Amino acid sequence: MTKFNKQHVYSRLIQPDTSFVGEFTASVQFDIRIYQQDIQGSIAHATMLKKVKVLNEVECDLIITGLEKIRTEIENDQFEWSIDREDVHMNIEARLIDLIGEVGKKLHTGRSRNDQVATDIRLYLRDMIASIGSAIKCLQLVLLDIAEREAATIFPGFTHLQIAQPVTFGHHMMAWYEMLVRDAERLDDCEKRVNSMPLGSAALAGTTFPIDRKMTAELLGFDRICLNSLDAVSDRDFAIEFTSFASLLMMHLSRFSEELIIWSSDQFDFIDLGKAFCTGSSIMPQKNNPDIPELIRGKTSRVYGNMFNLFTLMKNQPLAYNKDNQEDKEPLFDTVDTLLGSLLIYSDMMGTIAVNHNNMQRSASRGYATATDLADYLVRKNIPFRDAHRVVELIIDYSIKHDKGLVELSLDELQQFSDLIGSDVAEVLTPEGSVAARNHIGGTSPEQVRLAINLARKQLK
Ligand code: ARG
Repeated sequence: MTKFNKQHVYSRLIQPDTSFVGEFTASVQFDIRIYQQDIQGSIAHATMLKKVKVLNEVECDLIITGLEKIRTEIENDQFEWSIDREDVHMNIEARLIDLIGEVGKKLHTGRSRNDQVATDIRLYLRDMIASIGSAIKCLQLVLLDIAEREAATIFPGFTHLQIAQPVTFGHHMMAWYEMLVRDAERLDDCEKRVNSMPLGSAALAGTTFPIDRKMTAELLGFDRICLNSLDAVSDRDFAIEFTSFASLLMMHLSRFSEELIIWSSDQFDFIDLGKAFCTGSSIMPQKNNPDIPELIRGKTSRVYGNMFNLFTLMKNQPLAYNKDNQEDKEPLFDTVDTLLGSLLIYSDMMGTIAVNHNNMQRSASRGYATATDLADYLVRKNIPFRDAHRVVELIIDYSIKHDKGLVELSLDELQQFSDLIGSDVAEVLTPEGSVAARNHIGGTSPEQVRLAINLARKQLK
């Protein structure tokens, strides 16, 4: 392909050069990515034109054979892309005419690049949505495996990044799983609107030829047909929806990354990320940096940027197609690449994390994490919750003063604060007792985590 030539930009500074206009308006540098969809769309269009007798059989066959040859040429890197032919559509059409002569010129009957490109990117995005759906599922399965292994692992639950109450690590993993469930639902919903066919809208008003849009839609596997030609050629809502979905999912991965970064720090030391997902420092030999989670946190802003890019791209456009729309592709493609890459690497990375049970347990036993359990215990002995809360506050003050954890207090010491406290308090004060007691739907007990995993596995099928 004639490469976009920076030198050209600079020579344009010295003297006017109209050929630069061609380079500036071209999109083939990036829309080359949708060549398959372009050929697929053209074959369906030609087949439909034959059925409605706009093309005869021989013409249609020639066109389809030509398009298939072009596909092979592109796949074998034998296709000569030219920036002078502006975009992927014109490059392919020009080559078709080279290959089969005058008949090639008939392919564009009853369509325009406006409905053609809108159709191509929807086909492309539909394919990508399927891949992204599988990548989400793959990460969900990895999380379920960890949750299953760690269903009873004691882990400190945090609020305000301060130890709050013990949870199970399996429960924590299932929280991430749940976020991905919602992401997958949003993706499915987005797919419904992507899967609608603009082809047949032509430039903006439809066409004078007796086209059969239902047939083309069926050939291309579209669920629906866009019902207004003006809207169909200019609508990019589906791309905005997709980047919004992607932004939300990246936000989840970014939060997740933040936790992994914290957990793998020396101060926390809850997990080890596999060596392959970290890098050393060029100067500090002891370093093992969590590069992948950091990069994903960074790439999240890039996807937000793409979403805002598309929102801004559309906000001033009158109906119908405007050349502005050509700028939809790069943010869309970049979002797909970033999201898919992030999901795939996440599955691999999570598949290899090592869990440091001792540190998790130690941390969950610190910070008076079972204070609420003690208050709940007193409530069960018929003390109103507010009063129970106050009693526990006093017990904690005492423990801090004597530098003891709750489990280290003797029964005598506890009974100084309430004579309702009995020897049965012991199990309430351990992290294991604390998590086991939260045994209801959505609770953190190992039993509930296992039930949630079973349900999830059924739903994922
Ligand atoms: N390359 C163009 C795009 O991506 C194709 C449509 C061009 N249509 C037009 N009327 N100039 O949007």
